[in-house]
Amino acid sequence: MKEQLNEIRQKAISRLENSDTLAALEELRLQFLGKKGEVTALLKQMGKLSPEERPVMGQLANQVRADIEGMLAERKQELEAHALDAKLKAEALDVTIPGDEMTFGHQHPMNQVLQEIKDIFTGMGYQIVDGPEVELAEYNFTRLNIEEGHPSRDRSDTFYFTDDDSLLLRTQTSPMQVRVMENTKPPICILAPGRVYRKDEADATHSPMFHQIEGLVVDEGITMGDLKGALVTLMKRIYGEQAVMRFRPHHFPFTEPSCEMDMQCHKCHGTGEVDGQVCSTCHGEGWIELLGAGMVHPKVLEGCGIDPKRYSGFAFGMGLERMAMGRMKINDLRLIFDNDIRFLNQF
Ligand code: PHE
Repeated sequence: MKEQLNEIRQKAISRLENSDTLAALEELRLQFLGKKGEVTALLKQMGKLSPEERPVMGQLANQVRADIEGMLAERKQELEAHALDAKLKAEALDVTIPGDEMTFGHQHPMNQVLQEIKDIFTGMGYQIVDGPEVELAEYNFTRLNIEEGHPSRDRSDTFYFTDDDSLLLRTQTSPMQVRVMENTKPPICILAPGRVYRKDEADATHSPMFHQIEGLVVDEGITMGDLKGALVTLMKRIYGEQAVMRFRPHHFPFTEPSCEMDMQCHKCHGTGEVDGQVCSTCHGEGWIELLGAGMVHPKVLEGCGIDPKRYSGFAFGMGLERMAMGRMKINDLRLIFDNDIRFLNQF
């Protein structure tokens, strides 16, 4: 019996070495240690031994069983480690393979300029506000002192929604002046950028939809000097210290006095000519109109519940596309709206 046990151990050792799957190991375990296994079968024959032999054989049989169990466990661990190794190798990333090229977009040049302008004004204490593009004629015209029958209310210029001309696409951002003043007590210091709409044919300097930036400051003692200071600061920050500006008297129904501000043409430097030809950017004017502005009309202040004897204010409205064209040296407005990637990639 002793030989038989030693034989079983030897057999188990050599079989184990050749088992390289977990399933094969389980098979081995059943073959040697299972209920019908070889060690178990031997133990069943213990009864035939003499009382002296029995404990010795019993001990040896248990030893062999423990040995086989130990070897099985050890081999199992080995196989599992191998399996993990193989799995990790199969899943390994080759970090040296070149990646897929990614293309990054960026902000539209007009929005870049808008962001610059917003940053400059927020730096001067202005708050950015937003308002509706679908507007009441009341706010777009009437409360801005633009009476019924005024040419700018003409159906040929304005997109109306209703037959009674009471609802429209705003033609300017100036209604934001009224919307802010009727809801806020001075001091007021706001900037209101947004889309505006006019029935214009698209050409190099016109589009039926464009952008304006409205500014409004109302407080005690506000003067035209404050207006000029704010606008000159803006223009020098955007176009550089050497930028040349001029203020021209003008008329708007909702400001008094009113003016327009021009910038010297960046293409012909005010001469109106490039290589003996009429400058295409300013049409020979030498100047580019950038904005309208003025001191808020007392009637408009009063209509919003602000006492014009105590308070005064200035307002301005500038064309964002014009500002962007000057800033980015773009000579056709339509390029800004076409979104041709070859154009956009230059900024
Ligand atoms: N809203 C005027 C325009 O569209 C510009 C403007 C704004 C003028 C504010 C004066 C004050 O032309």
